[in-house]
Amino acid sequence: MKLAIISGGSKGLGHAIAEKLQVAGYQVVEFSRSAPHAYSVKLDFSSPDQMLPVLTSNLEKLAAQPWEEILVVSNAASLSPIGPTSKKNTMAVLANINTNFTSAILFMSEVMKHFQSHACRKVIVSISSGAALKAYSGWSLYCSAKAGLESYIRTVAVEQASEANPFVVLNVDPGVMDTDMQVLIRSSQKEDFPAVDYFIHRKESGELRTPEVVAAGVINILHSDATSGARIPVFS
Ligand SMILES: NC(=O)c1ccc[n+]([C@@H]2O[C@H](COP(=O)([O-])OP(=O)(O)OC[C@H]3O[C@@H](n4cnc5c(N)ncnc54)[C@H](OP(=O)(O)O)[C@@H]3O)[C@@H](O)[C@H]2O)c1
Repeated sequence: MKLAIISGGSKGLGHAIAEKLQVAGYQVVEFSRSAPHAYSVKLDFSSPDQMLPVLTSNLEKLAAQPWEEILVVSNAASLSPIGPTSKKNTMAVLANINTNFTSAILFMSEVMKHFQSHACRKVIVSISSGAALKAYSGWSLYCSAKAGLESYIRTVAVEQASEANPFVVLNVDPGVMDTDMQVLIRSSQKEDFPAVDYFIHRKESGELRTPEVVAAGVINILHSDATSGARIPVFS
């Protein structure tokens, strides 16, 4: 049996990946707040202390079984709060850092801890963004977290190279997609997100891909022989 573990598989890209992998015969587990699917587990990445026991108890049970292949997608993320740093609520800042950075790292590091000795093919994809490389006014937290995660993956790739049963770890840039995240972007006030008109134009000019199309691209990368540590755009 093959295993797929996904964060943020309730909707959007994560859900499209989960559905495709389930159809392909993988046992799928997704972690999210709404947890609406039969394969969902409820947790909230904005509270690392509370989500960690839920995550680890689920991983512990899964790691007790033998697997032919393990695919992991670190996908959960949030843009909120959007706006200038000087205006941001401190608790909302903390929740964003916890969701996009702290818990994303805990998610991947706990997966590695629990499955390091499994000898099957193991791939972790961290869903990144163009925002990891480019500064967007109003998205300082999101841009920083995505940039930090890219560095995390590059560093873990070096560490994994000396493991007996290494994970392949990859940064994957999905490009722009027609999901709730883009709905939130388009609903931003201009004073919070000056590039809002550009993102409205991207939607109106049909630039946004469906999550299903992007999910197929991410799954191709998961199945590829990409070099660990690489940054791969789904569409170049
Ligand atoms: N959409 C784009 O154009 C675009 C472009 C570049 C990169 N990306 C990246 O692609 C990935 C998927 O984005 P998307 O567009 O599919 O976003 P989305 O539709 O907003 O979905 C986000 C997912 O993350 C989960 N999530 C958010 N906050 C969470 C929390 N505190 N705890 C647990 N789960 C949480 C959500 O589940 P719940 O709400 O149920 O918790 C949901 O499943 C993200 O990493 C995003 O940064 C998106």
